[in-house]
Amino acid sequence: MRKLFVFISLILSLGVLAQESKTKPDVDMDKFITELMGKMTLEEKIGQLHQISGGDVVSGELSSEGNKVAQQIRKGGVGSMLNAKGVEKVKALQDVAMKESRLKIPLMFAMDVIHGYETAFPVPLAMASTWNLEQIEAMARTAAIEASADGVCWTFSPMVDITRDPRWGRIVEGAGEDPFLGGEIAKAMVKGYQGEPGYATNTQIMACVKHFALYGAPDAGRDYHTVDMSRLRMYNDYFNPYKAAVEAGAETVMSSFNEVDNIPATANKWLLDDVLRKQWGFEGLVVTDYASINDLVRHGIGDPVSTTIRALEAGTDIDMEAYAYHYMLPEAVKTGKVSIKLIDQACRRVLEAKYKLGLFENPYKYCDVTRPSKDFFTKEHRAKARQAAGESFVLLKNENNLLPLKKNSKIAVIGPHGNNRPMMLGPWFYPHDIYRAATVVEGLKEVSGGQAEILYARGCQPFESEEYARRVYFGKEFEKDNRSDEEILTEALDVAGKADIVVATLGESTEMSGESSSRSNLDLPKPQQELLKALVATGKPIVLVLFTGRPLTINWEKKNLSAILNVWFGGTEAAYAIGDVLFGDVNPSGKLTSSWPQNVGQLPLYYNYKNTGKPMDKWFQKFRSGYLDVSNEPLFPFGYGLSYTRFDYGDVKLSANKMNEKGRLTATVTVTNSGDRDGYEVVQLYIRDVAASIIRPLKELKGFQKVFIKAGQSVDIDFEIIPELLKFYNYDLNYVCEPGDFEVMIGCNCEQLKSAKFTLVESM
Ligand code: BGC
Repeated sequence: MRKLFVFISLILSLGVLAQESKTKPDVDMDKFITELMGKMTLEEKIGQLHQISGGDVVSGELSSEGNKVAQQIRKGGVGSMLNAKGVEKVKALQDVAMKESRLKIPLMFAMDVIHGYETAFPVPLAMASTWNLEQIEAMARTAAIEASADGVCWTFSPMVDITRDPRWGRIVEGAGEDPFLGGEIAKAMVKGYQGEPGYATNTQIMACVKHFALYGAPDAGRDYHTVDMSRLRMYNDYFNPYKAAVEAGAETVMSSFNEVDNIPATANKWLLDDVLRKQWGFEGLVVTDYASINDLVRHGIGDPVSTTIRALEAGTDIDMEAYAYHYMLPEAVKTGKVSIKLIDQACRRVLEAKYKLGLFENPYKYCDVTRPSKDFFTKEHRAKARQAAGESFVLLKNENNLLPLKKNSKIAVIGPHGNNRPMMLGPWFYPHDIYRAATVVEGLKEVSGGQAEILYARGCQPFESEEYARRVYFGKEFEKDNRSDEEILTEALDVAGKADIVVATLGESTEMSGESSSRSNLDLPKPQQELLKALVATGKPIVLVLFTGRPLTINWEKKNLSAILNVWFGGTEAAYAIGDVLFGDVNPSGKLTSSWPQNVGQLPLYYNYKNTGKPMDKWFQKFRSGYLDVSNEPLFPFGYGLSYTRFDYGDVKLSANKMNEKGRLTATVTVTNSGDRDGYEVVQLYIRDVAASIIRPLKELKGFQKVFIKAGQSVDIDFEIIPELLKFYNYDLNYVCEPGDFEVMIGCNCEQLKSAKFTLVESM
């Protein structure tokens, strides 16, 4: 029988071990808070657990109490606020707390700073496509500088939910489908927002890991829908990014709207207490998602009072905008339904966060009204955002080197995204000036230094119908063109006829992905498909510049167009970055972090699947896993992205063919830039545990390096293989690696890989 040896990690599912890892208690803080709490009434303690909205951003149904904000603060009934926009406003609200409330406890101000603040960076899914952790950290740092200048000391970011289903609109807010990459990105973002421990400066803000947990796995990709998952899948495939963020020191965690194991996350004691606090050693505070305590009754787990108590008992410290703690906890304590100890515990955690931020020392730390003029939308921030955008674009196709374009060309920019400022931004930019970004037309003119002649035509409406547009924009403005469809198209064909090349600027509109924006069809909107067909019929060379917040099923486009550059939603500087890449000043290096399906019937689709007993082939085989009507491939695989140059991979060489549980070995591959341009390549390492006590995926990403290689040069890339990379949660949820054979695969995406084998042995 196969012998097992088990390496129990320091961070595994034993509360005992996690206790040991707890940080040293801060005696001064504990004393200060104990004294303060000694003076607080029950209502004031519950007030600290009550978070209300300032109403400047809409991220859920607003409570009718919203207009009595000052009155509630005055009574000590509010601990923190979200969505109060503007440092002057924040200062005025802080004034009420500091000058008019009995105990003068400062408020915390939170905001969804998701991909930048005044300077918008690419949406998170795009940032992930850079595979550049420094770049991602710099984005979070820049966002923290700008947000803190506006009074924000707490961001509801990073969103680290793994998703394997792009029908789910919130895929745009995360890093894609991979647990390892998601974990690395989560750490980089926490570091960027929070900086070094201690919040020594007023540009460091608290991060909030969300949405804990499994929010990215709703049935059928429908937002807020049922999640049902085995514990093994949770631990092995979905938990890692949350855990990584907690280990990186994230101060706060937001629970998710969905259920986990038939209990809503908001009231799930196993999740919030056993896993988060006991197993992972999290010591910070837990906030609900927007008004989610109110949802508990609708989930069907009890009446308003009992569900509110259940949320508190589960470990929820702050009630965001549900007013459930505010209305129900005082009575529940007085009637003995809930212990004051639980209120004290949650209140202490909120006060600790304020203490750590330095708000008791200086409640106005984040209220410097002179900062916005110095810190918003600076040249430096914009330069960073432009660089990030250029790095995030993914070149999906480039037949016959149609790209890059010559600067002195005559270019027809055609499509509703070509001359539209808000369209550059993507979701989560609404409290800011949505007309700030340059358009593609402006970007191309600027980057070509006036050499290119740029023509423009709208070409079609962005959506099938106005009703659809209204749903997408949810009461916000959208640009409508009152001409007939025929007039709009005729103009476009006329403009195309005058140009050397067509740059078709099409795709999803800026709010088509994001919260409550699930889609059951991932094609380009119909009018856009028709426009493309008409443009192809002209015979002009066409580059599709594709805007999207999620993978799309662009089969026809892939087959019929020579070049496709996926630009996501690149932020305020996207237009210049599009120019940089289209004209070749920047060589594209982005790689996909989620698999693009051929059709929605393939979903959920992910590269790290298991073999099954009847493994799939590429094409249909009777009695093999597969479909009659579509091949088993993605349209574009995880890790895929082209460059203007070519990278060739040598064989994988291992420093040894055996290692033991204390050992390590090195895998080396030579990568050659065999084209004629310098460029960045993301070299990816995957590992397969060939036979284990439970079924393991055929490959899992375990490392990557983004390297710059000059044209004609070769570089040796080394990856250290350590036992940690071989571990997984076994049937008993112990984190182990098991002896046996492993396959090491290295390449440019999850499919084009070179491989070698080694054996993990018990002793050498
Ligand atoms: C979203 C969260 C967000 C919160 C506060 C909710 O609707 O799910 O991601 O942080 O609103 O704006």
